Formats: sequence, structure tokens, C-alpha cells
Amino acid sequence: MLKQQINVLGFAGSLRKDSFNRALLREAINLSPEEMKITDFDLTEIPMFNEDVEKAEDPDIVTTFKDAIREADALLIVTPEYNNAIPGVLKNALDWASRGGKEAPLLKKPIAIMGGTPGRAGTAQAQAQLRQTLITTRSLVMVEPQVLISEVHRKFDEQGHLTDEKTGQYIQRLLNGLEDWIKHFNK
Ligand code: FNR
Repeated sequence: MLKQQINVLGFAGSLRKDSFNRALLREAINLSPEEMKITDFDLTEIPMFNEDVEKAEDPDIVTTFKDAIREADALLIVTPEYNNAIPGVLKNALDWASRGGKEAPLLKKPIAIMGGTPGRAGTAQAQAQLRQTLITTRSLVMVEPQVLISEVHRKFDEQGHLTDEKTGQYIQRLLNGLEDWIKHFNK
């Protein structure tokens, strides 16, 4: 049975204080449907993946991250685009979370993705690459709607508040879609 409250773990692939992608995640938290709770996980302290370290023992922060993914009903990944790809910070975190065989946190985990860039193409290449990675982890990535925010710097005011109504609507559609997507796997 699906729990009353849907717990979503969100993380952004940018460590920047004024990250637009983190701001999009913040808006998702604000705009989430009543029964959905989104928590923002900060990837700053996740160390670089090293199989030797993993073999000895996962660092505490990695254990915390992996447990948070396991406990979540779904993930919301908000990705910037660096050099036509996802940032290393995000790929690194996913590499840690991909491990654990049948207990791997990302295995069969429902995931919604979105991303924003000051550029025109709305993180299209990064999102395509992210989907590719999440096929390998056998995660359940939501097919649509796709949310690609171009010219993201025009969508927020100086204080980092969303000023663009359409962007808010796209995020809401994504979250409503995620709710249905999760229910689909909990019938
Ligand atoms: C970028 N940026 C960028 N944007 C884009 O649309 N396509 C790209 O390939 C790249 N490449 C790229 C590489 C590197 C190393 C940096 C630092 C930046 C610009 C990027 O979208 C912009 O800096 C965003 O604001 C980053 O996201 P956050 O930090 O605002 O969330």
C-alpha cells in the first residue's frame, strides 16, 4: 500500500551558492502537492568515488545519502549542464548510489528530472545523458513531462524568487506527473 505522504528526495547537481538549479529545487519544494514532501539533499560533502574506499567501508555521508535514497518514495534530480553533460558532482553521487547489487539505492527507484541553464537549449543534452545513466542503474525514470528551463537567469529575481509563472506551472506538472508515476508502481 502506498503511504499517505509521498517522500521525495531532491538534489541538485550544482554546489554553487546561487545555483539556479538549486533555486528550481527550492521552487519544487514550495510548489509540491499537499501529500508530497520534498527534501533537499546537499551533495557538497559527498567525496569522490573510489572503489578502494568503498571496499573498506562507505564514508558516513555516503551511507546517509544512500539510506536517504532507499527511504524515499522517489527522487527529484535537478541538473545543470556542463560541457553538454551532467556535472561531475552529480555523476559522482549517482556512481556511489548505483552500488550495492540488489540493494543498490537507485535500483527500481522512481525518478523525475528537470534542469535549467542560462542558455537556449534548457539542459537537453545533460538530461538525455542523465536518462542514459539511469537506464544503467535500472531506475524508473519518468518519461514525461520533460522540464527544460532555458534562459533560467531571467526566471528569478535578484533575491532568487521565481518570477516566471510558466516555469512554476512546468514544475507543478512535473510533480503531479511524479505523483501518478509513483502510484503506477504501487498499485
Ligand atoms: C557551463 N554552462 C553550460 N550551459 C549549457 O547550457 N550548456 C553547457 O554545455 C554548459 N557548459 C558549462 C560548463 C561549465 C564548466 C560551466 C561552469 C558552466 C553554463 C551553466 O549552464 C551555468 O553556469 C548554470 O548557471 C549552472 O547551473 P547552476 O549552478 O546555476 O545551477
